[in-house]
Amino acid sequence: MKILFATPEFAPWIKTGGLGDVSGALPAALSALGHDVHVLIPAYDRFATLIDRRAVVDLPAADGWPAARITAAQQPGGVTLLLLECPELYGHGGGPYIDGGGQDHPHNARRFGFLAWVAARLAGPQSPWMAWQPDILHCHDWTVGLAPFYLWLAGQRTGQPVAASVMTVHNLAFQGVFPMADADMLRVPAQFRDIEGVEYWGQLSMLKAGLSFCDAITTVSPTYAREISTEALGMGLHGVLQARASHLHGILNGVDTAIWNPATDTLLPQNYSAASMGGKAVCKAALQREFGLTERADVLLLSLVGRLTPQKGIDLVVEALPWIVDQGAQLVVLGEGDRILQQALTAAAAAHPQQVSINIGFSESQAHRIEAGADAFLMPSRFEPCGLNQMYSQLYGTVPLVHATGGLADSVIDLSAGIDSATGVVMPQATTAALLMGLERLRSAFAERVVWQALQHNGMRSSFGWQDSARAYDALYRNLRPAVPVEKA
Ligand code: ADP
Ligand code: GLC
Repeated sequence: MKILFATPEFAPWIKTGGLGDVSGALPAALSALGHDVHVLIPAYDRFATLIDRRAVVDLPAADGWPAARITAAQQPGGVTLLLLECPELYGHGGGPYIDGGGQDHPHNARRFGFLAWVAARLAGPQSPWMAWQPDILHCHDWTVGLAPFYLWLAGQRTGQPVAASVMTVHNLAFQGVFPMADADMLRVPAQFRDIEGVEYWGQLSMLKAGLSFCDAITTVSPTYAREISTEALGMGLHGVLQARASHLHGILNGVDTAIWNPATDTLLPQNYSAASMGGKAVCKAALQREFGLTERADVLLLSLVGRLTPQKGIDLVVEALPWIVDQGAQLVVLGEGDRILQQALTAAAAAHPQQVSINIGFSESQAHRIEAGADAFLMPSRFEPCGLNQMYSQLYGTVPLVHATGGLADSVIDLSAGIDSATGVVMPQATTAALLMGLERLRSAFAERVVWQALQHNGMRSSFGWQDSARAYDALYRNLRPAVPVEKA
């Protein structure tokens, strides 16, 4: 099948979190199954070196949208990037969502409305690029939420067949909510501005548009698929999701083992594997030195990499800092986010420099060194659609401590299952008390060599590759398009 991904992030080129990892890895896994995958993404400044002088599509200004062009660039794994060039919208530095000054980009509604518009045009009738017409349009998160809606509209207007659309929810907390006054600019017809359409508490939600008008909804773990259909974690969209329950599927993300494998990871001071763990001790000592902590093999070295936000339960970790210090354990943190959380962690690091160390920032290579060098990884997230670090941790022999939510519940097996299968410590609630109890359990396990080694080895033997997830998406696509003849790979 021809599959068009529409996404705002694509690792390793542009990544702010797990969405970038998934958009970077899933297309190649689908391509390995024999599909032809193209990935449409804005041509942010950092893609400059990839841009070809010849465009595959020229889009003249039309319907209130600016002129743009699309150039194609081959990527490893047989994936084609389609770079949507429109300097007026995407050429301002900063990140995908924020401007050079660190604020939400003031024109996000137009920037991503246009991305969605172009995705729908490529997947619809009268495509500006007839040479490559997708069978499936697969949209990722709110930025391209309008695409299934635009596509559906085009099908209704013309009566012609269009690609089947899939909307993947990576995080329901981000809904692409803009003033309803933007509806004209976004070309949302008046009759779709109510609760049956794109309206969300008087405003316009791009994600709601996608959820309501796509052919299938997926989210990134089976547990999160159940959770978002409840009032507690549905973030105001549980009604929409309940109404579409038969179209909602949970498919657990995978890990790109070409990038995350301790036996081959070129970013580590020394490689290791379950059969030969010596390198992990070297990585631990190097990490302690890098972060200015006391270099000791016998101390429990805890770690955390991620967005420093309440979603990730970072405030609970702040409250557990006295326990960490009193127990003589160590903690390394790499992340950025909420200012108050950053300050609390920085203050603890200043007060206990040999035990607590934090690097505020984003560093892919340091994230790898932490996964390898730490003994344990903390993820007490309040909610977690999938989470990737708990999987990276297991493959690196770094024992995860997680809250039983979303993809964390689906990918970590608690100590109570016994040493034949357990891979980590699972806390039943996201509270400080539960975290402290989890830390105690972690500490006792660390003190018993046999138990700890079992946890490490069980985790390292887990299969978190993308193949299984890609097969699940493949089955879903085929169900949507039973009429499409699929050649065997
Ligand atoms: P989310 O997408 O909600 O942030 P995930 O666990 O799915 O959470 O994915 C986060 C990804 O981003 C992981 O690959 C993680 O290593 C990476 N990451 C997050 N913060 C940082 C950081 N400060 N430096 C390097 N990598 C980071
Ligand atoms: C989101 C979620 C995270 C998930 C990632 C990739 O950012 O917060 O849990 O792993 O998307 O799907």
